[in-house]
Amino acid sequence: MNGIKLLSTGSALPRQAVTNDDMAKRVDTSDEWIATRTGIRSRYHCTGDETHTGLCLSAAKQALERSGLTADQIGVCVVATLSQDYLTPAAACLLQRDLGFSEDTVCFDLNAACSGFVYALHTVECLLAAAKRKYGLVVGVEALSRITDFTDRSTCVLFGDGAGAAVVEWREDYPSLHAVLGCRGNQEALYVPGANAPAPSYIHMDGKAVFRFAVEALPRCAKAVVEQAGMTLDQVDRFVFHQANQRIIDFAVKKLGVDPDKCTGNIARTGNTSAASVPLLLDELVTGGVLTSGQKALCVGFGGGLTWAGALLELA
Ligand code: COA
Repeated sequence: MNGIKLLSTGSALPRQAVTNDDMAKRVDTSDEWIATRTGIRSRYHCTGDETHTGLCLSAAKQALERSGLTADQIGVCVVATLSQDYLTPAAACLLQRDLGFSEDTVCFDLNAACSGFVYALHTVECLLAAAKRKYGLVVGVEALSRITDFTDRSTCVLFGDGAGAAVVEWREDYPSLHAVLGCRGNQEALYVPGANAPAPSYIHMDGKAVFRFAVEALPRCAKAVVEQAGMTLDQVDRFVFHQANQRIIDFAVKKLGVDPDKCTGNIARTGNTSAASVPLLLDELVTGGVLTSGQKALCVGFGGGLTWAGALLELA
């Protein structure tokens, strides 16, 4: 067996929390509508000098500092995102510059939307197996407020900005993530036009189609991971589900028959932060002493692509 364990986490949120009442000043909506349909009470938006690059660096720096490692010990750095400041250079290349990784560090960005962080964890696990230096940095970061259409009430109330980061170590005696990744190519349910597209680069979503996909994909993926690991769901210490909608999570918790107390999240405060959602929650659980050394978290992301990704991550 060989794989990675989580050494440390970090996170960063913009200064400004935007409440549902604040959103109701911009579009025809209400705290009651948003909270009932999604569980969201507030989200964070970048303001002033706050940027995707800044959030990414803060979260990554914190995770690195907490790991006790130095930048030149990192062998691979992958940033999961779909809202980066530059198409090139990759956000991971800016981290190489700003944190001072060696020039032979593998650095790139990965877009698997809300599944991105778990996709990146698995990618880093595979790359570290062949790398000289066995430590990896994985970041999930979004500045979704930059690509949100604030005239579309059905999407703008959902999304927020933030970043979460994790430092991992690969060892021959560490367990595999038992990652289960997948994709069902679909351009209609959820898309953001790129630089060459005729429409503005805003998030477009068929909420009902995504909801139907999510309530099927989340429990299916969670089950597949534990089956692959030869475990049962009740052996999992903590479930770290992508924070898209509390109703999606509640549905999955019920379908899986797992203890709801092991599935608590932060969607009420952060909204849906896409690739940042899983690592933001992981950081909260680790720094809050909820996920402790030797415990296993089943992380599951799902969303645009359409994609899904699950992995069992143990805290070293
Ligand atoms: N405030 C008030 N009313 C709103 C609203 C808002 N923010 N957004 C939509 N509405 C209205 C619609 O206009 C519609 O009105 P109508 O019946 O007069 O036409 C009504 O509410 C119902 O809209 P609908 O889109 O059918 O609502 P819904 O129950 O499907 O909930 C979502 C919408 C977006 C909350 C829900 O579909 C959802 O959560 N989908 C998954 C989204 C997601 O998680 N995406 C990310 C995955 S990674």
